[in-house]
Amino acid sequence: MANSIRFFLNGQKQDVTVRPDTTVLEWLRLGPRLTGTKEGCAEGDCGACSVLLGDVSNGEIRYHAANSCIMTMGQIDGRALVTVEGLKGETLHPIQAAMAENGSSQCGFCTPGIVISLAGLAASGGQADDHAIHDALAGNLCRCTGYRPIVEAARKVMGEGGASIPGPAVAAFAEVEPAQQIAASGAMFHQPRTLDDLLQLRHEKPRAVLLAGGTDLGVALADFHGDWGEVISTAHVRELRDIGETPTHLSFGAAVTWEEVLAHVAPLYPSFATLIRRFGSTQIRSMGTIGGNIGTASPIGDGPPALIALGVEIELASLDGTRAMPLEDFFLDYRKTELKPDEVIASLRIPKPAAGQDFRVYKISKRYDQDISTVCGAFSVVREDGIVRSARIAFGGMAAIPKRVREAEAALVGRPINEETTRASAAAIRDALSPLSDWRGSAEYRSQVAANLAERFRRDLAGEVVEVMAL
Ligand SMILES: Cc1cc2nc3c(=O)[nH]c(=O)nc-3n(C[C@H](O)[C@H](O)[C@H](O)COP(=O)(O)OP(=O)(O)OC[C@H]3O[C@@H](n4cnc5c(N)ncnc54)[C@H](O)[C@@H]3O)c2cc1C
Ligand code: FES
Ligand code: FES
Repeated sequence: MANSIRFFLNGQKQDVTVRPDTTVLEWLRLGPRLTGTKEGCAEGDCGACSVLLGDVSNGEIRYHAANSCIMTMGQIDGRALVTVEGLKGETLHPIQAAMAENGSSQCGFCTPGIVISLAGLAASGGQADDHAIHDALAGNLCRCTGYRPIVEAARKVMGEGGASIPGPAVAAFAEVEPAQQIAASGAMFHQPRTLDDLLQLRHEKPRAVLLAGGTDLGVALADFHGDWGEVISTAHVRELRDIGETPTHLSFGAAVTWEEVLAHVAPLYPSFATLIRRFGSTQIRSMGTIGGNIGTASPIGDGPPALIALGVEIELASLDGTRAMPLEDFFLDYRKTELKPDEVIASLRIPKPAAGQDFRVYKISKRYDQDISTVCGAFSVVREDGIVRSARIAFGGMAAIPKRVREAEAALVGRPINEETTRASAAAIRDALSPLSDWRGSAEYRSQVAANLAERFRRDLAGEVVEVMAL
């Protein structure tokens, strides 16, 4: 058991005794007084608090941006944390220099967060076209400069081949190996390594906070200044971090992040990949997990409608053993699920596309990036000689739980997809779902949009839709 949190801060090894449920933002600003990391919204939306987190993966250190306002100190145990102050060595980091030269900052409040996000992109070695730059910036709001000069600065650095992040060497991470338990200042943070250990802990402590990426839980912690006396983190559980592939399925442990899911899903289901790219921001996707999205059981979560339409099966585990079920059976009522107090979501299996299968998922929200769905509709059909042999249609935002709409599927099965069958399917969607009104959309708006998506799907399959802006 450790009594402190060990990590690298801007390349220097740290051994810090602080409650593990303190947010990283609070510690950075009040502890070492690294005030370049700002607090804007304090709920993961604005990116002013962005920092880089480094982990060793396949023998290299990979850095990604994350929101320090909704991340706890326990979550950085064993990792490398880089703030805007740590990017500068003898000279400015190339992103800092390009931003300064290009007039990419006015009041400067957003600038550290923007520099961090772009430094993360510059270090990724990935494609650095405008899509990648916009993706990297989707979680950072600038209200005064505007994005053109920022994007131009990014283009310049990417055009020169990116830039690395100053930090510790791979071998140094052995000195900050994550502790199995951290007990500090009256709070306990467990970091089991195996599913067996996780299940034992869950059995003994069903009331402890079960924490994955913390992108849902961390918002509540920051908003209500919560007190997490005991936390069980899934981040280091080997089985929950597994990604597997068979000839027929992809499988993901529950603690696999959305950014990791994206890389594997994109070649098989491009429409799902488009949805995942719109899931929060890079900061959210690189912390938030697929299991957390299911575990939170939000009626407007984006993962469940797509996963239900794809015919996903999830596996729940406890000391009594495992049980599998179709994802649609997991959700019982508003925020009520099949999960028992001593159970965890262990994994889920996504079938690979079948011959003749078409899949589309559409997210309707007020903003394209970094927004919550008003309605999310997912459609999957398998056709043979133009006739629908099977269909799965699911919606989020239309009921207390993510909902499969069998009546709408029945209107298509055994028939071709044409205007008439689509009208019948759309009518079934309207009849079967009774959404609520809220500030995102009235019940009537939601019903109309959901029904319209059936027509959008028909036109997509007929090649009639020009992707002006991918839904
Ligand atoms: C700014 C912002 C933008 C967002 N955008 C989107 C979006 O576009 N679409 C969307 O759907 N969501 C969005 N979210 C919500 C959130 O990011 C997702 O729901 C994410 O997948 C949650 O995963 P997590 O690992 O962070 O979960 P956590 O916050 O760690 O946990 C969430 C819940 O799941 C439970 N849980 C976690 N793992 C398990 C497990 N293995 N077994 C059982 N229960 C478990 C936890 O106990 C908790 O109740 C956004 C959040 C923020 C802050
Ligand atoms: S302060 Fe806005 S994302 Fe953290
Ligand atoms: S420079 Fe003022 S918010 Fe971006």
